[in-house]
Amino acid sequence: MIPELNFVSPLTRQPLTKTPDGSALLGGSDERYPLIDGIPQLLIRSGQVQASSDSHAYYRERASEYDHGIEVMFAMFLADEEQTRRDMFAQLELRPDSRVLEIGCGTCRDTIHLLDMPIDVFAGDLSLEMVLTGRDRLLRAEKNTSRLQLFCADVMHLPFADGFFDAAYHFGGFNLFPDYKEALAEITRVVKPNGRVVVGDEGIAPWLANSEFARILENSNPLFRHRAPLDCIPVDARQVGCRWILGGSFYLISFVKGQGEPPLNLDVTFPGRRGGSHRTRYFGKLEGVAPALRDRVLDAAAAEGISVVAWLEKTLGRAVQNAPSDGVDD
Ligand SMILES: C[S@@+](CC[C@H](N)C(=O)[O-])C[C@H]1O[C@@H](n2cnc3c(N)ncnc32)[C@H](O)[C@@H]1O
Repeated sequence: MIPELNFVSPLTRQPLTKTPDGSALLGGSDERYPLIDGIPQLLIRSGQVQASSDSHAYYRERASEYDHGIEVMFAMFLADEEQTRRDMFAQLELRPDSRVLEIGCGTCRDTIHLLDMPIDVFAGDLSLEMVLTGRDRLLRAEKNTSRLQLFCADVMHLPFADGFFDAAYHFGGFNLFPDYKEALAEITRVVKPNGRVVVGDEGIAPWLANSEFARILENSNPLFRHRAPLDCIPVDARQVGCRWILGGSFYLISFVKGQGEPPLNLDVTFPGRRGGSHRTRYFGKLEGVAPALRDRVLDAAAAEGISVVAWLEKTLGRAVQNAPSDGVDD
């Protein structure tokens, strides 16, 4: 197994140390994260910060019946589950020795296929019951788990340092996360620059929103009323893609982690009457003037055959040069 000391405190992001008897990970003055059945419980106690408690109770009670529900779902869409899952995480573009986070791994129905690759897999879930059911699946299938670390954590407070992963993946629980924007930001935080993020969940494709297909699905499961949360994608995302799978009933968002907002050349000058550049138009705004004066400025610029910005730069520049250097009011 990969050593648990790759984990940091989900509260402070400081490194954790293991107790001498190996029963818990310790952080700060009073942080204690027990290992239950060998699985680190990196969950923040309720009350410390907002945690995903509703989801926790829901999946704790459903771990045993969950797998049957998933088989029914793939049968309903006439889809091959293994192929569908492999297609989904193909978008992570994993390479040999990539380190991948799978959060919300549930009963390890994706994990089992990720383990076929020569990569390090950190598979975590809010619910210990789901993870234990998943671990049984991996043991029954006699999978090599030497490059797998299972853990329990909340997607809203991941126990990893910034940029720890080459890629991060989540499928199936996104619609129940308490804050989509913060969840995507937290998943993206733990991915390296240029690493990939892939998330998907129920959400009918826009062109099917008013179809009978949509009404039938939404009638049986209100989760299909969700829509792809495109407005929650972080501004540092690049090469963003969204496809709809399983007949158009689930969205799958993928992107590459960039840095900050997309680059923009502010100094390209625009042709035409208004002229100027983004820098002059956006950062160089002055107070407004009376409409009659504005019209005279437009006419004066046109008469000289230059853009309004060029005329203003020239005329105001000259006026400022001639103005007294002190005594200027705000
Ligand atoms: C529908 S299941 C999907 C499981 C698995 N990814 C699959 O495709 O079969 C959603 C999973 O997300 C987990 N989950 C829900 N909220 C979570 C949260 N805030 N943090 C981490 N996992 C969460 C649930 O416990 C559950 O196992």
